[in-house]
Amino acid sequence: MMKDIQKFWQARNWMKSNESFLTTWHAHVGYKLDLFDSFAEGEKVEEVAAREELNGQLLLRWVEVGLEVGHLKKTITGKIKPKKKMLKYVSAKSKDSVGILLREMMELHIPTLMQYPDLMQNNEQISYLEDKFANVVAETSALLEKASVPPMMKWVGKYKPGHIVDLGCGYGGYLKKIRETDEKVSLTGVEISSEVAEEAEGNLRNDNITILNEDLEDYINKGEKVDMVMIHNLLYYYEPKEREELFKKVSSLLNKGGTVTVISPLTDAKHGQTFAAAFNTFMSAHENLFPLPTEKEIESHGKAAGLKVKMSKPIIKEGGWYLLGLQKK
Ligand SMILES: C[S@@+](CC[C@H](N)C(=O)[O-])C[C@H]1O[C@@H](n2cnc3c(N)ncnc32)[C@H](O)[C@@H]1O
Repeated sequence: MMKDIQKFWQARNWMKSNESFLTTWHAHVGYKLDLFDSFAEGEKVEEVAAREELNGQLLLRWVEVGLEVGHLKKTITGKIKPKKKMLKYVSAKSKDSVGILLREMMELHIPTLMQYPDLMQNNEQISYLEDKFANVVAETSALLEKASVPPMMKWVGKYKPGHIVDLGCGYGGYLKKIRETDEKVSLTGVEISSEVAEEAEGNLRNDNITILNEDLEDYINKGEKVDMVMIHNLLYYYEPKEREELFKKVSSLLNKGGTVTVISPLTDAKHGQTFAAAFNTFMSAHENLFPLPTEKEIESHGKAAGLKVKMSKPIIKEGGWYLLGLQKK
């Protein structure tokens, strides 16, 4: 009898712990199909289904979940309306939207984790589709800027570089922020994805920032000297054994006293190790992505490249994200 109760309780606990997944699922579907906007003015389910040409039964089920998890409410006239925070933060149209993160989690991370048993058993890895997800990843990386820009700007203020290059610049948010405080500094972004580089060029049209759509290796090979290099959220594209070489190449770009900033989630760090462990499961499932570095590894690659770590700051503790600053001796 006691055993049965314990078994029942275990099953109940697993079900309960999965409720939060429903919240994420609901938000993701709403973001992807613009449903929070569709219901913005207060609508009947049948009206939205007809207008947006959606399966009415499935839309109704989505609405029911939304009412349960508190993303939607019912007005006294029986119409459905999203909660204000869903319109502000999960609608694709809102400038404050973080919905892109839901896409990364639900379309990239969760499907990968679901393949784990097969991958492990068959001793296989999948290929990370850079072209398919380049914009999603560039956009989610930009969400970190709120936390990383202030210490970055302090670093720039301290070393006053004359020419800064951002390798793997994504949408170029860091360059834009630097331009806002310094009109004269030369700013270059290097980005391998043509779609992402095009978006960055559009965003930075009026900022006198050069965006080069090329492989950072090609940029480095040109040998132009700069005063600061940013390698932000880039190290997991490099095999651990190739990272020391990358640091050496980056160092070769720098004038004496020049600096490097590195942003990355770290393993073996004081903060955010649950997230780092999840990140690594994702990376290791792919043949073209690699596990996160430790701070010691970065320190050692820097040392081999003549760079000394001068700053190490957690920027998002829960995510294990750090900003490191190194200087060329
Ligand atoms: C995760 S995003 C980070 C973007 C930006 N650095 C940030 O932190 O917000 C990494 C970017 O590096 C670009 N990238 C990857 N490998 C590259 C390479 N070999 N050369 C240039 N860009 C590269 C990717 O296309 C992607 O846009």
